[in-house]
Amino acid sequence: TNKTFTMIKPDAVGNGHTGAILNDIIAGGFKIVAMKYIHLSKETAGAFYAVHKERPFYGELVGFMTSGPIVAAILEKNNAVEDFRKLIGATDPAKAEAGTIRNKYAKSIEANAIHGSDSDENAEIEGNFFFSQFERF
Ligand code: GTP
Ligand code: MG
Repeated sequence: TNKTFTMIKPDAVGNGHTGAILNDIIAGGFKIVAMKYIHLSKETAGAFYAVHKERPFYGELVGFMTSGPIVAAILEKNNAVEDFRKLIGATDPAKAEAGTIRNKYAKSIEANAIHGSDSDENAEIEGNFFFSQFERF
């Protein structure tokens, strides 16, 4: 489809990169359909990352994602999921291409500045997790 879901993570919000990252997203051709600024509870972050429950870093990931507020958004663009993952770069910022959001703003594989859905199906699930129909424009 033409939608993806993103979160600007606590490291990037805390370091003051929210504005620059939103600028990169908009300059990349994405339209903001929905957006909110929230501090996730352990329960909410744990449920969002339930797909990673069996991975060794699950507890650290939930701890990190609840360490400060985040910006969550639904984005619209042709080929949104793939193009957005190109814009943010590899999970490990040391491997992220120059000019990508993670290359510019991320510090480590965990504190990697931003999330992007990895499939159309997950984009739909993740967007619905955070936003009602009345919060989309
Ligand atoms: P997201 O867009 O955030 O989903 O990242 P991704 O799809 O590039 O990576 P993945 O879904 O595999 O992992 C989800 C998140 O878990 C990553 O973005 C990191 O924040 C974190 N993570 C991934 N690998 C590691 C790891 O080896 N150690 C730790 N501490 N965190 C990790
Ligand atoms: Mg992922």
